[in-house]
Amino acid sequence: MTVTSLIPGPADRPNSGLSGPADFRDRVQQGFGRRAGSYEQQAQLQQGVAWRLGHLCRALPLPAGPIADLGAGTGLLSRALLAQRPALAQPPPIQLDLCPELLARNPLCGPSIRPWDLNQGLPHSLHGAALLISSFALQWLDDPASQLAQWGASLAPGGWLALALPVAGSFDTWQAAAHAAAVPCSALPLPRAEALVTVATAAGLELRHSQQLCFSRSPLDGLAALRLLRGLGATASHQPPLGPGQLRRLLAHWPRAPLRWKVLLLLARRPPQADAS
Ligand SMILES: C[S@@+](CC[C@H](N)C(=O)[O-])C[C@H]1O[C@@H](n2cnc3c(N)ncnc32)[C@H](O)[C@@H]1O
Repeated sequence: MTVTSLIPGPADRPNSGLSGPADFRDRVQQGFGRRAGSYEQQAQLQQGVAWRLGHLCRALPLPAGPIADLGAGTGLLSRALLAQRPALAQPPPIQLDLCPELLARNPLCGPSIRPWDLNQGLPHSLHGAALLISSFALQWLDDPASQLAQWGASLAPGGWLALALPVAGSFDTWQAAAHAAAVPCSALPLPRAEALVTVATAAGLELRHSQQLCFSRSPLDGLAALRLLRGLGATASHQPPLGPGQLRRLLAHWPRAPLRWKVLLLLARRPPQADAS
């Protein structure tokens, strides 16, 4: 298996300051890369959401054009789609992701792995896409709203976007603990569902399904909650790591309540007549 990087390395980037976007992206990649081997064991929520998204796509009328999974990781979403719509297997959806270690475990990737940073938009080959799918990835990008608008603009007339991601309102127990302990909350800031829906419609898409689902997992305490996220590799933060004393205070104030995710599920279509004139 060969890995060809399409991502500029540190030497190619001028002025990459410690908290700049390139560093954050590198931390995202390293976090997922380190835990790539345990990702699927920990990813029950992602698997459940992937199945729901695949179900939403099982009978969509698709125009001609490429199909891609954006932030595909190990391919859970594409595999859920193909299990429910096997006719899309030839060729399988294009698998785009930043993290070579996850792509190396993705059975839908060919022998040569080409990581792709979605912060730089979509490859030209995806313009005129028939179907773009993405689950639990958009929130990691530097500007989720503008990337979402670009994804919408890349669809062919009659093309579809099927998207899921955790949104603001998730991780409320973590935020409550940080507030009570007077330490910074290092949870990833998540976009507001309503703002994303507005972006999708402003990009000219017709909403076919928009739903917010609540999921919870019941670790018994803060340490178990943080370990669960670490097992997924979802550890990158815009905040510097907490010191040992801050971490102890955070864990001491963690409420005995489940870790909760609010997940937006969105299915939208570019109107078939959009480009007709
Ligand atoms: C929680 S995983 C979800 C993976 C998969 N979609 C799933 O549902 O299992 C988040 C994924 O987003 C990818 N990701 C994060 N930032 C990215 C970026 N800038 N460009 C491409 N992929 C990115 C990560 O590498 C990781 O595979």
